[in-house]
Amino acid sequence: MLPARLTALPEYAFPRLHALLSEIPPGKPVIDLSIGSPKHKPPSFIAETLAHHADGYREYPPNDGTESFRTAARNWATWRYQLPEHWLEREGAVLPLNGTREGMFMSIMATTPEQKNGEQPVILMPNPFYQCYAAAALAAGAEPVYLSATQDTGFLPSLDQPEELLRRTATFFLCSPSNPQGAVASEAYWRQLLELAERYDFMVFADECYSEIYRHQPPAGVLHAASATSTNLNRVMAFHSLSKRSNLAGLRVGFVAGGPKPVAALKRLKSYGGAPVPTPSLYAAEAAWGDEDHVEENRKLYKQKFDISDRLLREIFTSDTPYTSPEAGFFLWLPVGDGEAVAASLWRDEGVKALPGAYFARVDADGVDPGKEFLRIALVDTPERVEEALTRVAAHISALR
Ligand SMILES: Cc1ncc(COP(=O)(O)O)c(C=O)c1O
Repeated sequence: MLPARLTALPEYAFPRLHALLSEIPPGKPVIDLSIGSPKHKPPSFIAETLAHHADGYREYPPNDGTESFRTAARNWATWRYQLPEHWLEREGAVLPLNGTREGMFMSIMATTPEQKNGEQPVILMPNPFYQCYAAAALAAGAEPVYLSATQDTGFLPSLDQPEELLRRTATFFLCSPSNPQGAVASEAYWRQLLELAERYDFMVFADECYSEIYRHQPPAGVLHAASATSTNLNRVMAFHSLSKRSNLAGLRVGFVAGGPKPVAALKRLKSYGGAPVPTPSLYAAEAAWGDEDHVEENRKLYKQKFDISDRLLREIFTSDTPYTSPEAGFFLWLPVGDGEAVAASLWRDEGVKALPGAYFARVDADGVDPGKEFLRIALVDTPERVEEALTRVAAHISALR
């Protein structure tokens, strides 16, 4: 027997896409823009650092990492979010993660109570969303509630939610910069969310794994908002990753920074059922968080591709369903009518693989699927291949009109 609450999860996006396209031959040489797996080069010092510390593979790594890793993570967060000196050390805690996906999943398991105000707890999340959030909520016995993040709400979930829902809320997931829309929460938005968390006694899980891939200003973050408002950090868990910042998705290193209580709860659960980050990876990650040059180079390449996208696609869309030039992240979120039908025809006619937006979304409380009309395109390939692919996308979408 399998648990119905998990078997009810829809098939993951990539097998779904495979099923959609597997019988259709691609019309042109294939360009795959479906998966958000980084393709730019990782920093050159990673291989050397891993080799230098290779002896560390012999031993079980410490569950909470090394002191030098935690210091590097704290120093980076303090610099990046302009936190008061030693604030994170005083008020909070950090813990290395095997990537933030596993970290967020386990953190929900570690922090979700059986009941909230006498009822089944709710985990709020944006819609569309990174699929880990819903699976974690269900695994923890909570009810996932999907808050549509559409053009009308600036592609972030509205914070104007019914009192009875907020009273049941255990955790609010916010992804900023958001996957898939590339929207960025302002400092004011974070502050409002923290205020709500305080009023209704829930936690804020900030998924900030795209925080370093931005076009203009560094995105605001939950840690700065928390330090500026003297929020009790036990309400906050901020998740950071090297996967996108440093093109190290395969290294599987992230960290969480947050209040001592939830971080201790996570650490405890991980000591029973988690895999600690290997020591050589901790040293490599420490070096990656200590260097901003490679991140700047990485951002430049993404900026170049966003400019290509603006040039090729802006004019194709109408004012009813406008093209939104993303502020951050590395995805395009294109309103194409029927995302699944267009993903299939784009593949059939142009050999371009992109993901239907519905694969990231759920039908919301109003019966609307906010992803259905969209296509998600990952700008991870070289600028030349992205230019070629988006030229084909532009031709295809224009021909459909
Ligand atoms: C929004 C979002 N959050 C979290 C992750 C997980 O990243 P990682 O586990 O590599 O840190 C991803 C990966 O694609 C993502 O898109």
